[in-house]
Amino acid sequence: MRIEKWVVREHVDGVPDVERMYRKVVEEVDVRLAADEMLLRTRYVSVDPYLQGIALDTPIGDHMGADSIMEVVEAGPAARFGVGDLVQGFGGWRTHLVSTGAPSFWQTGTFPMVFPAFRRLDPADYGDDLPLTTALGILGGPGMTAWGTVEKFLDVRPGATVLVSGASGAVGSLVGQLARHRGARVIGTTASPEKAERLWELGFEGVLLYRDGDAPERLRKELAELAPEGIDRYFDSLGGALTDVVFGMLAVESRVAVCWQWGSQVGGDWAGPRLLPMIMFPRTTIRGIFSLEWFTEENWAALRRDLGALVRNGELAYQETLHRGFDSIPAAYRGLYLDRSANRGKVLVEL
Ligand SMILES: NC(=O)c1ccc[n+]([C@@H]2O[C@H](COP(=O)([O-])OP(=O)(O)OC[C@H]3O[C@@H](n4cnc5c(N)ncnc54)[C@H](OP(=O)(O)O)[C@@H]3O)[C@@H](O)[C@H]2O)c1
Repeated sequence: MRIEKWVVREHVDGVPDVERMYRKVVEEVDVRLAADEMLLRTRYVSVDPYLQGIALDTPIGDHMGADSIMEVVEAGPAARFGVGDLVQGFGGWRTHLVSTGAPSFWQTGTFPMVFPAFRRLDPADYGDDLPLTTALGILGGPGMTAWGTVEKFLDVRPGATVLVSGASGAVGSLVGQLARHRGARVIGTTASPEKAERLWELGFEGVLLYRDGDAPERLRKELAELAPEGIDRYFDSLGGALTDVVFGMLAVESRVAVCWQWGSQVGGDWAGPRLLPMIMFPRTTIRGIFSLEWFTEENWAALRRDLGALVRNGELAYQETLHRGFDSIPAAYRGLYLDRSANRGKVLVEL
């Protein structure tokens, strides 16, 4: 059968140059399944900013990894799932794949990790309010990241001032709404005045326009106006000058969730003040977020229950941007870094 995949052609640091980084490969494959293997057809692929790191750690010529929703089209007699089952897992930028669906080890530059086993999606959990695509969005990794951070670490109290950087994105928009649901005053950052409108609609009380390279002096002045009593909780997905400024405004017993550092990890900006003295007086707790730790059956059920209920009764909103066609995957991915203006919420590709 014919299988198409995007493979890594070259390791390119920084903002992804997809023409240089990826090459499409078409293969005729004679599929012979072992007893525990399945042939899966990819239905949806998620594009996420963290794929930058995955690409750099992928051997040249190997397919590009990514979270996806797949359908089992053939299954060996001892396979984990049956024909017709829908599953979610790290299937990658491939039209089809043969897999047992077992957990897979991944050695990153700094940190070894394990991608969890494929999980079966029960069609009964999805419908008009929460279509299947949400298994890659609000009911998938981004939802788990937001829910886990708020539920298990941030300890958001009524009246607290919560700052969410990257607030228009799939994760940030949920963190902000969940914090607001707990009675916090939520401030969000976005680079786009149009997306700022959406943050107001979602109940954010303050919006800071920020893009990398902005002068810290303006950020400090505007944030001081938005948060005159300091920042109690900071969900950080951008880093850079913004985080430098926020560290000087942390309130007593504040908490900082470090989800991603765009400024340094993509922008290469490793400069900044030495931040640790700034957490001493306010007794701040900083925690790295690594959402795979929350990918358990119990948490998936809680996520569906908690966020599903909030969506159904209109207290939580999410957005998706759906691209179509296998060939559009690299461009959809590049759009996370460049041309972000059209993106709303979770960005996906339907094959
Ligand atoms: N640690 C973990 O376990 C974990 C798990 C999931 C995700 N993450 C990371 O968390 C971050 C958010 O994930 P997501 O799915 O919400 O991503 P996303 O949907 O792409 O949202 C990221 C947001 O950041 C803003 N942004 C992007 N580039 C920027 C730049 N150069 N300067 C300023 N703002 C910029 C964009 O907002 P505007 O266009 O409005 O400016 C965008 O909406 C990602 O970086 C992801 O890799 C980490």
